[in-house]
Amino acid sequence: MPDNNPSNCHIDSCRKSVLITGGAGGIAKELAGIFASEGHDIILVDRDIRELENARDSISTTNPGINIILMQQDLCLSQAADRVCEFTKKRGLQINVLVNCAGFGTYGFVNGIDQDRELDMLQLHVLTLYRLTRFYLKDMIERDEGQVINFSSISAFQPNPFFATYGASKSFVLQFSRALNFELREKKRNVKILAVCPTAVKGTGFQSSAGMERTRTFNSWMAVTADEVARDTYRAMQSGKDLVIPGRGFGLLHALISRLPAGLLMRISRSQLKEVRETGLKHASGSSVEERI
Ligand SMILES: NC(=O)c1ccc[n+]([C@@H]2O[C@H](COP(=O)([O-])OP(=O)(O)OC[C@H]3O[C@@H](n4cnc5c(N)ncnc54)[C@H](OP(=O)(O)O)[C@@H]3O)[C@@H](O)[C@H]2O)c1
Repeated sequence: MPDNNPSNCHIDSCRKSVLITGGAGGIAKELAGIFASEGHDIILVDRDIRELENARDSISTTNPGINIILMQQDLCLSQAADRVCEFTKKRGLQINVLVNCAGFGTYGFVNGIDQDRELDMLQLHVLTLYRLTRFYLKDMIERDEGQVINFSSISAFQPNPFFATYGASKSFVLQFSRALNFELREKKRNVKILAVCPTAVKGTGFQSSAGMERTRTFNSWMAVTADEVARDTYRAMQSGKDLVIPGRGFGLLHALISRLPAGLLMRISRSQLKEVRETGLKHASGSSVEERI
């Protein structure tokens, strides 16, 4: 069970603390491992307690001296951010680094996507991220020290047919993060915000939870691993960047591609997000892959 007793909270005040949402799996868990190996204490927030415990056990095995606190929370709930803030406040935890990584995708033709699932996604990617950022940023600005890492996506840079709401929600993350970082720099605050915009990431839970098992982009040469994303993110944070597109040379490639007209960018996105053509394959819905998208 999660440790809900403030008196049982063993965070070392000499060490920096990082709070990571979505920390039970995928990219966030890899990043938590790097922060732990660099001597940070960790607060992992996710919705599945078993997965949280598994993540804690594997991180502690390789980083025995590190304190790891778990918080089970569904971050799609409207009160979720308040609960997380209350959780850390009650325990007197100072957050030096906030990582907003929890997220999922919705893929398909607009009428085929469950609207409530998209509303949950918007709540998570936009409102929960906004509220957590505002809450922890306030303390960071007062202390004149801190870092926020917000997970956006390569989808944030253009409209994405059949991935429309997901891409639009990640555009919010990107624009919000970069604009705040600009404000902080102009005010000469020692607080930074990094937007992370990965291309398709292989081997995480994202692909199946979005129903994108057969989407071309995850098998393309532009797909990266969670480990690569976590390492590039950590490096970008250390060098004080406000934006990173993980993967070797992808930042440069994106700078070139982004000069193309929006209509062409949409067609490129559409082609990357197409499903591989395999006749006879059936989805849970019963429709064939080719019929579906
Ligand atoms: N994978 C990609 O291709 C890709 C590309 C670009 C950007 N990103 C972004 O990178 C971030 C991490 O993705 P990932 O690939 O590591 O996916 P992942 O393996 O599915 O990890 C996401 C984590 O967030 C958790 N989560 C989802 N909804 C939550 C909620 N309502 N409350 C609490 N926790 C929740 C998931 O828990 P459950 O397992 O219980 O759902 C999971 O542990 C996301 O923001 C994603 O949009 C991913």
